[in-house]
Amino acid sequence: MAQERTYIMVKPDGVERGLVGEIIKRFENRGFKLLALKALQPSRDLLEKHYADLSSKPFFPKLVDYMLSGPVVGMVWAGKEVVKTGRVMLGATNPLASAPGTIRGDYAIDVGKNICHGSDAVESAEKEIALWFPEGVLNYERSLDKLIY
Ligand code: TYD
Repeated sequence: MAQERTYIMVKPDGVERGLVGEIIKRFENRGFKLLALKALQPSRDLLEKHYADLSSKPFFPKLVDYMLSGPVVGMVWAGKEVVKTGRVMLGATNPLASAPGTIRGDYAIDVGKNICHGSDAVESAEKEIALWFPEGVLNYERSLDKLIY
């Protein structure tokens, strides 16, 4: 079964605060399938490509510096409507507007340190997966899917 995929990334503040496991747990518990996972120190070039659509925004330089401040953990998750649902699980861009129960709503206060990234559309998800995982990602059948779908 070809499933929708999204790119989820724990940002440097989320890694430093030890929230990687918590974020993985939420996606696993929901029933989404992990296709790729890696910790890396992203380069400025990679971050500028990832956030290219925001390059004219006043907060862009600060955003790139923050994302360069430490390692990130990138993941690819698959499942029904995982792009939209992943964004709901992350919460609003501004954590103060995020509902309790969402990752940002439970763990963050400031828009400049909002812990995690999630692709905003199926097309951008595929672009981000190609950018962050040029080596490719897994694709496998999971018997657990019979219990979830
Ligand atoms: P954006 O793509 O608009 O949000 P999201 O991450 O929810 O898809 O913005 C990218 C990141 O830029 C956002 O996660 C945090 C940062 N940012 C700011 O620092 N200030 C701002 O005013 C906005 C809108 C975003």
